[in-house]
Order: sequence, then C-alpha cells, then structure tokens
Amino acid sequence: MIKEVERILISEQELQDRVKEMGRQITEDYKGKNLLVVSILKGAVIFASDLVMEIKLPLTMDFMAVSSYGASTKSSGVVRILKDLDQQVADKDILIIEDIVDTGLTLHYLIENLQSRKPRSIKVCCCLDKPSRRKADVQVDYIGFEVPDEFVVGYGLDYAQKFRNLPYIGILSKEAYS
Ligand code: IMP
Ligand code: MG
Repeated sequence: MIKEVERILISEQELQDRVKEMGRQITEDYKGKNLLVVSILKGAVIFASDLVMEIKLPLTMDFMAVSSYGASTKSSGVVRILKDLDQQVADKDILIIEDIVDTGLTLHYLIENLQSRKPRSIKVCCCLDKPSRRKADVQVDYIGFEVPDEFVVGYGLDYAQKFRNLPYIGILSKEAYS
C-alpha cells in the first residue's frame, strides 16, 4: 500500500470477482440486443476495460468525456461535454459505464443528453455508488459496490489525476489533500 492511501476498501480480488459477476448478468440481459458500451473518460476506463471482456456478446464501445472535479474533492455541479460520441445511437441499446455515482449530477445530465438522441434503450452501470451524497435522482441499473462517504482512489478513480493505476479501491488519507 502507498502512504497516500489510509485503508484499502475493496481489494483487487474483490473487484475482479464482482466484475465477472456483473459481466455475466449483463451478458444475460443483453442477449439479442444491439449493445453500445459508453465509457465515461477518464475514470471509468479501467473498470470498463475489465468489464467488456466479461460480456460474452458482440458489442461496440464509445467514449464521452465530461468536465468533473478538477483538482478538488468537491463536485462543482457544472457538467460540460468535452468529448462526444463518434456515432449515431438511434438503433443502439446504450449501457453507460461510470466509475462512481456521487451526487449523481454528472449522470443525470448524461442520461438526459443521450435520451434526447432517441436510442433504443439506456441503462447505467457503475463500479461504485456513494448514495449518501446523492443530489440528483438517477436510476443505476448495475452497481459494483456501495461505498461510504469517503474520497476514494484507484481502479480508475483519481485525485488530481493521480492514483488511477492502483489495482484496488482505497480511501485517500486526509494528509494527501489538506
Ligand atoms: P457526481 O456528478 O457528483 O456523481 O460525480 C461523479 C464524478 O465525480 C465521478 O465520475 C468521479 O470522477 C468523481 N468522483 C466522485 N466521488 C469521487 C471519489 O470518491 N473519488 C474520486 N472521484 C470521485
Ligand atoms: Mg475524476
């Protein structure tokens, strides 16, 4: 463990086991559909990469980038599209992949935005859910783990762009951002 991490919340093994389970569930649910996996850059990329290999169906992948926290640990509530999809989605069953749903503001905006393009369906899959801080009412269809109200890093999640490459989810120590 590194000194900036106070405690490991979810181990590498637990993550890998849960991702396999989620992949099996999604494989069941999307048989015969036209699955487009939309990963939200950058946080969801590691989770999404592991997850798609466990979805045993034909699928396509695309990416969106939206503005997030910058170097702070507090949500700004401002959502801006920095990178949009490369394709039309009218005949697609979209599965949005997010790293963590915190206030829900980012996802709320994304769902509304994608809904307006009239895809066949939209569902949401997140690695982590922090329900205690929810501000926007969003339906999350697949949740990896629920986490307490702590700032977490690793497995794609960053603090000031760092720690994304940790293979586990850890609680950032207070000294690391005070
Ligand atoms: P929301 O709009 O408040 O739900 O925030 C969603 C985004 O905030 C996520 O995609 C993350 O990039 C970031 N975020 C929220 N909580 C954490 C955390 O505990 N660690 C790292 N990033 C976080
Ligand atoms: Mg982030």
